[in-house]
Amino acid sequence: MLITFEGIDGSGKSTQISLLKEKLIQLGHQVEVFREPGGTDVSEMIRGMLLNPDLEIDPVTELLLFSSARSQLIAEKVRPLLEENVIVILDRFYDSTIAYQGYGRKSMPIEQIHQINAAATKNLVPDFTFYLRLSLDEAAERTKNFEKDRMERAGDSFYKRVFEGFEHLAKTEPRFKTINAEKDIDVIHQNIFNELEAEL
Ligand code: ADP
Ligand code: TYD
Repeated sequence: MLITFEGIDGSGKSTQISLLKEKLIQLGHQVEVFREPGGTDVSEMIRGMLLNPDLEIDPVTELLLFSSARSQLIAEKVRPLLEENVIVILDRFYDSTIAYQGYGRKSMPIEQIHQINAAATKNLVPDFTFYLRLSLDEAAERTKNFEKDRMERAGDSFYKRVFEGFEHLAKTEPRFKTINAEKDIDVIHQNIFNELEAEL
């Protein structure tokens, strides 16, 4: 089973993923978590480039680098684990490319990005996508003391478009489960687990 988490920076993905992982392990499942971009030597090296504030990266190059990091992760780690019936949880997946590079940067037409996403993953589709929905103001409040990487230095209008991108995906992709991320950490965890429980 492939479970992905999406949402703007600071929406609580890492927090919820570690709680979910713990819960699934307690129930006797094998679980592996990867963050995107990252998770393999090649993908972590690409991550270093993508988040380095000293680099200026062309928007199309940026999109292809995120996709390259992803194709390596899927081929090297995710597919083999899924074949062994391990539950794989991804901290971001190709929906982030639609939201950030498609809506945020307007790098390419959205339809073309869907095609690149399918090519990079050989048509892998998550079983569940949890969209942690949080306002931009609340996310900014939660992360105000964090150091900003290259992506996070983009302006407010960029983040508004990213948010709209996720909202559009939530309305159009049936696999998206929208979770109110303004609630307390434990309540959100329970809501996520409730969605999954019947399928485990
Ligand atoms: P993401 O991985 O989506 O960037 P994090 O899980 O790192 O988000 O959370 C960002 C910050 O918000 C962290 O300091 C975390 O402790 C805090 N946080 C996470 N969930 C909540 C919540 N439900 N309510 C308040 N603060 C939260
Ligand atoms: P990270 O620190 O992992 O995310 P978060 O702030 O949510 O904890 O940084 C990854 C950054 O890369 C984040 O700003 C989102 C961005 N990103 C894209 O622009 N496109 C993508 O396809 C992915 C996977 C991430």
